[in-house]
Amino acid sequence: AEVHFHEFVIQKTPVKRLCNVQNSITVNGQFPGPTLEVRNGDSLVITAINKAQYNITLHWHGIRQVRNPWADGPEYITQCPIQPGGSYTYRFNIEDQEGTLWWHAHSRWLRATVYGALIIRPPLASPHYPFPVLPKREITLLLGEWWNRNPMDVLNQAQFTGAAPNVSDALTINGQPGDFYRCSSQETLRYLVGSGETILLRVINSALNAEMFFGVANHKLTVVAADASYMKPFSTNVIMLGPGQTTDVLLTADQPPAHYYMAAHTYNSANAPFDNTTTTAILQYKDATCVTLQGKSQAGAIPAQLPGFNDTATAAAFTAQMKSPSKVEVPLEIDEDLFFTVGLGLFNCPTPNTQRCQGPNGTRFTASINNVSFAFPKRNSIMQAYYQGTPAGVFTTDFPPVPPLAFDYTGNVSRSLWQPTRGTKAYKLKFKSNVQIILQDTSIVTIENHPMHLHGYEFYVVGTGIGNFNASTDTSSFNLIDPPRRNTIGTPPGGWVAIRFIADNPGVWLMHCHIDSHIFWGLAMVFLVENVATMASTLECWSTRGTGDDDYIDD
Ligand code: C2O
Repeated sequence: AEVHFHEFVIQKTPVKRLCNVQNSITVNGQFPGPTLEVRNGDSLVITAINKAQYNITLHWHGIRQVRNPWADGPEYITQCPIQPGGSYTYRFNIEDQEGTLWWHAHSRWLRATVYGALIIRPPLASPHYPFPVLPKREITLLLGEWWNRNPMDVLNQAQFTGAAPNVSDALTINGQPGDFYRCSSQETLRYLVGSGETILLRVINSALNAEMFFGVANHKLTVVAADASYMKPFSTNVIMLGPGQTTDVLLTADQPPAHYYMAAHTYNSANAPFDNTTTTAILQYKDATCVTLQGKSQAGAIPAQLPGFNDTATAAAFTAQMKSPSKVEVPLEIDEDLFFTVGLGLFNCPTPNTQRCQGPNGTRFTASINNVSFAFPKRNSIMQAYYQGTPAGVFTTDFPPVPPLAFDYTGNVSRSLWQPTRGTKAYKLKFKSNVQIILQDTSIVTIENHPMHLHGYEFYVVGTGIGNFNASTDTSSFNLIDPPRRNTIGTPPGGWVAIRFIADNPGVWLMHCHIDSHIFWGLAMVFLVENVATMASTLECWSTRGTGDDDYIDD
């Protein structure tokens, strides 16, 4: 096993897209940021040096951080942000994970431009992928979003007005919008493939808010992994990824030599404004002769067919096909039976329709789990407060395991439930307890697919369904044999999903919707898995302090 050392310099960098230049926050001047390539069993030491004007932290999305929550990264949860001029070193091991993960800023909306791939290959001792065909080459595709403004200003405006944030101006593949946008086609990314070759595409949804469909014109995709867990291979024309999710697919270049679009557009499950553009890159057969290599690629590339923007049936059918390659150890006896409602809400304003109340009917948007809208601490991290035994004033441990009132989640919901309470509430889990969580979408404001991400764990997705979860009938249909293992799973629009895991990793772990416009509205909570205080640790993580200027919502 190897130890990989990296320096990540976070700095302002001019980036030109869609005919104009944005001073964007990048790592080492690169957008997207550097790709980390390791093998299972390796370790990473990454020093983040903050030369930008914002507080920031970095998160290694999907890395379990076993007994190592100090390196997880969400601001005010496991550490205070790195202040301008400061630095922080993340040290962590790759333990029993292979596939595609990624890293991103975990501070407000900085991850719009601060993100990159984290690729974990099998160990040198057994270097082959367990795939039906071994790929000849690999291509990593980070799907993203681009704003013609500073994303932090988009966030600040939404935070100030209480309205929904502006949608992005372009979707991107590895930072490039592609052929169907202004001033972009000269930069459209092209990837070469030889006729007959099989390639591995590592697709990562690193967008802030857009769930996406992805496909390649005229080519079948064979899914072999997701979220750095292998899957039982299956063939599909299109994949769907919520922000945070990754999917590895094999593609065989078995079509006539030509140029084929690889394309992504939004899966919009909610009744809400969205970016309806299509981003593209080009898969170019080496022996294709039909198109000039520079620019004007529209002339020759074959278009990809993607499902309709609101095609929930296709999204659900795709996700339902995921299974682990063989039987897995799913917890069978449940110690903690949790039921979480996830959804949006609206805060009534004391004086509606003022500048700060530009949400529907003069309200402010909010979001919650079990009617608690999560408020990030402002000066201390939750882990620091817990470790030092001084939670008072930072967080409480009374997060409700079930909603305060049972209601028809998919029907008309009484207006009193539209307004959650705000709080910084954690839920305590005993070390090694078997946990089941039913995540139930509510129909408050809108039904919507919420990609829920749990830090510090991978979980088994044992069941999913439409409508209200019914314990007496739905539990019997759970897959307890070969369910997929994920770190991020969509709560289907107007439906539910059931996950199980063993709470065997002590620490303070954030669970949240990976649509970032929902995080700052409060669609998050924290698990406190005992017993952090007995863990060995360096106290380096306390050397940064919050400045209290990072308020999520001040109301
Ligand atoms: Cu990918 Cu809490 O994040």
